[in-house]
Amino acid sequence: MASSSVSFVVVLILVLCGGAACYDNSGGGGMEEEELFGLFEVMGSLLEDPTWAQMHPLPCTDTPWPGVECGLMEETDVFHVTKIHVGDDVVSPPCKASAKISDSLLKLPYLRTLSLINCFTDSEVSLNKRLFQSLASLEHLTLESNPALIGEIPSTISNLSSLKTLCLSQNNLSGGIPKEIGNLVNLQQLVLSRNNLTGAIPGEIGGMEKLAILDLSLNSLDNTLPSSIGGLESLEKIDLSWNRLRGAPPPWLGNLTRLSLLDLSHNSFTGPIHESLSGMQQLQYLIMESNPLNSKFPSFASSLTRLAVLSLSSCGLHGPIPSVFSNLTNLTALSLDDNHLDGAVPAEIGSLRNLDTLNLSRNHLSGRLMFPPDFMNRIGQRLDIRENDGLCADLAVRMSNTSSRLLQNPSCDDAVIFAAPSNRTMAADHRNSGSSVNLKPDLYGGGDDSSSDHGDFGSRIVIFVQLVLLFLLLQAS
Ligand SMILES: *[C@@H]1O[C@H](CO)[C@@H](O)[C@H](O)[C@H]1NC(C)=O
Ligand SMILES: *[C@@H]1O[C@H](CO)[C@@H](O)[C@H](O)[C@H]1NC(C)=O
Ligand SMILES: *[C@@H]1O[C@H](CO)[C@@H](O)[C@H](O)[C@H]1NC(C)=O
Ligand SMILES: *[C@@H]1O[C@H](CO)[C@@H](O)[C@H](O)[C@H]1NC(C)=O
Ligand SMILES: *[C@@H]1O[C@H](CO)[C@@H](O)[C@H](O)[C@H]1NC(C)=O
Ligand SMILES: *[C@@H]1O[C@H](CO)[C@@H](O)[C@H](O)[C@H]1NC(C)=O
Ligand SMILES: *[C@@H]1O[C@H](CO)[C@@H](O)[C@H](O)[C@H]1NC(C)=O
Ligand SMILES: *[C@@H]1O[C@H](CO)[C@@H](O)[C@H](O)[C@H]1NC(C)=O
Ligand SMILES: *[C@@H]1O[C@H](CO)[C@@H](O)[C@H](O)[C@H]1NC(C)=O
Repeated sequence: MASSSVSFVVVLILVLCGGAACYDNSGGGGMEEEELFGLFEVMGSLLEDPTWAQMHPLPCTDTPWPGVECGLMEETDVFHVTKIHVGDDVVSPPCKASAKISDSLLKLPYLRTLSLINCFTDSEVSLNKRLFQSLASLEHLTLESNPALIGEIPSTISNLSSLKTLCLSQNNLSGGIPKEIGNLVNLQQLVLSRNNLTGAIPGEIGGMEKLAILDLSLNSLDNTLPSSIGGLESLEKIDLSWNRLRGAPPPWLGNLTRLSLLDLSHNSFTGPIHESLSGMQQLQYLIMESNPLNSKFPSFASSLTRLAVLSLSSCGLHGPIPSVFSNLTNLTALSLDDNHLDGAVPAEIGSLRNLDTLNLSRNHLSGRLMFPPDFMNRIGQRLDIRENDGLCADLAVRMSNTSSRLLQNPSCDDAVIFAAPSNRTMAADHRNSGSSVNLKPDLYGGGDDSSSDHGDFGSRIVIFVQLVLLFLLLQAS
């Protein structure tokens, strides 16, 4: 270890003091020695390649490296390092096992972008408080997919006053989100997803007036949402899924008129959702699945006319599905499965010309499914209405592409068959003439919900089969 760093320094001295190599005057601008030295140390602390400095003695001009970018300062005719990116796209594997972030970063005061992806995988590294104190020119900081990046986000992150993008996703960071983060008034993207962050989302986040993307998903954040988020009117995407957030989704979310994605799924939010959320007029994705809303279907959804995906699966919704879909012409996916919804399925859902995924399974819906054939053909296997108490489908509908799922629901024709014995023969003939193979699951395995209808017919067959088996057994012995 010690000897290798000694030889590294020797190499540096050779490179730096090899005369003309230090300042490439003929090449139209060189680098300041301190900065070049700093870059060598930063790269040396990350990369496996011990000859990096030798191979790239003039990284801004004659011997560039794909992950390093420089900018020429006109007044002084001197190059400065503006970007360091290390990831699988540049070098594989990106970093050495003992990689760490060198303090020499502080010798790169013109650095605007630092991006280290899949770099710290073996030996643990944490974010150094001092490091952030003097990188005032940094605009984009991305430390992503580093399982060995541990510890807390230091409060001195707020010293990065030029920061526009802060992406620390898929690391192993823990502790709370420091409230000082709110001082990053130029921040446009805050992505801290897939860490072990805990505690509440600090209200100070409301200071980031330019914030467009807020992604804190897949952490262990708890408590309610700070109302200050309602003042962040530049927000376009909010993803807070897979945390432990609670309380009602706040009414002021309706102030976010530019929001196109709101993902609050897999939290502990409770209902009802306030009608003022209809203010989110640009909303295309409303994803709320797996929250104990325990309320009625939020009918304000009817005014979110740009909606493409609406997911309210496993939200404890009860009552009927209201007829609110006629204006949602851009809806492509509707998931209402695993709730307590009852009543009929609004026929207007079948007229949504862009809908291609519809999951209504595991509810208490009833009545006759009335969707036109072209709708059924388009949606195919992406229609799921299984496990509903009394929902039946017409034979024509059941014969369509969706049939394997629909066959687990009772046929509306069956309801007639068993109610009026005089019709049975005809209907049975009809079955045999059709694709009897497809219809079999309905007769035998018709699902728990429909078994009462079919009970005596099915049990007669079972008894018959048992008798045949008994007969065969007796024959054999
Ligand atoms: C994350 O850190 C904890 C200790 O802080 C450790 O137990 C765990 O293995 C780490 N996870 C990964 C994926 O390295
Ligand atoms: C750096 O951040 C810390 C913590 O937020 C703060 O106390 C300090 O004043 C900041 N220093 C500078 C130079 O901004
Ligand atoms: C952090 O989360 C990962 C999975 O995302 C888990 O393996 C690890 O044990 C957690 N670490 C701590 C300290 O909770
Ligand atoms: C939401 O907008 C209303 C009206 O513009 C305003 O009075 C209210 O303070 C806003 N709420 C938040 C949390 O910013
Ligand atoms: C659908 O849109 C029209 C015109 O924009 C509006 O008058 C009507 O109330 C809307 N219907 C629903 C159910 O929101
Ligand atoms: C539906 O989507 C199309 C194409 O993305 C878009 O042009 C149109 O404005 C959208 N309609 C509404 C009501 O948002
Ligand atoms: C519908 O949702 C249920 C869970 O509630 C899921 O098991 C099923 O696979 C979904 N159906 C489709 C077609 O995705
Ligand atoms: C099933 O869908 C395909 C297109 O995906 C269509 O060509 C075919 O006619 C459909 N079959 C039935 C029975 O509707
Ligand atoms: C079955 O019986 C009903 C009356 O119970 C009758 O209206 C209907 O036409 C019959 N269906 C057929 C196919 O005979």
